Amino acid sequence: MPRTLIRNASVVFPGDGLRSASGEVRTANILIGDGKILDIDASDTAGCDELIDAAGRHLLPGVIDDQVHFREPGLTHKEDLASASHACAAGGVTSFLEMPNTKPPAITLEGVRAKEQLAAEKSLVNYGFYIGATPDNVSELANAVDVPGIKIFIGSSTGNLLVDEQEALERIFAETTLPICSHCEDETTVRANTERYRGTTDIADHSRIRDEKAAMIATQRATNLARRHRHRFHVLHVSTAAELVYLQDPSPYLTAEVCPHHLFFNVDDYPRLGSRIQMNPSIKTSADNEGLWKALQDDVIQVIATDHAPHTLDEKSQPYPSSPSGLPAVENSLALMLNQVHEGKVNLVQVAHWMSDAPARVWGMTGKGRIAEGYDADLVLVDLNESRTILDKKQHTKNRWSPWHGETMTGWPVRTIVGGQTVWSAENGFDESARGGKPRFDHSRGGYWATAGGIGE
Ligand code: DOR
Repeated sequence: MPRTLIRNASVVFPGDGLRSASGEVRTANILIGDGKILDIDASDTAGCDELIDAAGRHLLPGVIDDQVHFREPGLTHKEDLASASHACAAGGVTSFLEMPNTKPPAITLEGVRAKEQLAAEKSLVNYGFYIGATPDNVSELANAVDVPGIKIFIGSSTGNLLVDEQEALERIFAETTLPICSHCEDETTVRANTERYRGTTDIADHSRIRDEKAAMIATQRATNLARRHRHRFHVLHVSTAAELVYLQDPSPYLTAEVCPHHLFFNVDDYPRLGSRIQMNPSIKTSADNEGLWKALQDDVIQVIATDHAPHTLDEKSQPYPSSPSGLPAVENSLALMLNQVHEGKVNLVQVAHWMSDAPARVWGMTGKGRIAEGYDADLVLVDLNESRTILDKKQHTKNRWSPWHGETMTGWPVRTIVGGQTVWSAENGFDESARGGKPRFDHSRGGYWATAGGIGE
């Protein structure tokens, strides 16, 4: 494997501590070879086969998006692993963890392995696949190995995966050991609200049907299960400030995530964007946007992920409620956050923490998420001064649209490196021959909050 020297980059090192506040940005020469970071302070003249002059650019650990829906197998008119991985590469995402609501759903280890095989054939970036819970596959979940974790839809969304009976949930938390993550919206509340708004075609009612109460009930229920069973649990896509009350009291078993659409959009955007921002959990209010930003800053929420969930624009243009929920975001999430750096709201160390180091630790991805010697050379070089407008037609996701169409961001990826190999650059486009690999998921280390002594209260 050739050696590459990335010279004079401003390198973003996430901190060693749990908090996003530590860490630093400093000029360094990064030497990579055999897919790994060999030296983080190499000399200017270190022997190499390829030299990347990165003066004026910033180097971050590649983004790890721990919640995406890439639709293969079965729903490939919306997305597939090749198109999705191109979108990842162009967006600075070097690893993705994909959800089980494909067709068929990935609810057996065999189903997960079949998806891994497809990804090995098609994906430019690294991949992992969750195993989905059903009310009666607990032994399959208990025996699953080498996967990021278990996904439970405590409230239903796209597809028909749903586990909301208490007995089944208790069994999953009691009888399995993999970390669990959940879509938390209370099914009973959503069904009752759906009845109340029967006949509506007003897209804004989506946020009244999937309301704050639905999110609160499910998050309370799930975090309660995790605390009682002392089971590692990750709350996916927190959408309300109200849910934070269940996350504020630190527990070594709990982590949480927020998505860009819940940070940047709110119900006031429905008139402008309509079903483009129809998502589950629904988008909420501007006060929720603010609460979620604060929770990130305070480390009450640790991870940013996209919940990239593409549908065709034809599907989305059906009148509500026939329009499906979900939006694509994987290729824009890093630029959205770099733009926040440009605006002075957050800093690069925080971005690297929320988008790389934290998800790697939550899911036990060894050698990922940081720029450090011995770590995998999954990297993204960015230009903080580049301004570009997000346009539907420029998207790499299969259906070429974005809810951020027309918005200009300052700060963009210019080169994405996976396992030491450039898989995309703004200058040369994609290396179609590149393929990602499957990360190692080591859950024995205890996850995000683990100390040298392991997990414990
Ligand atoms: O709106 C959503 N759509 N939320 C999810 O969590 C799943 C997704 C999908 O798969 O379409």
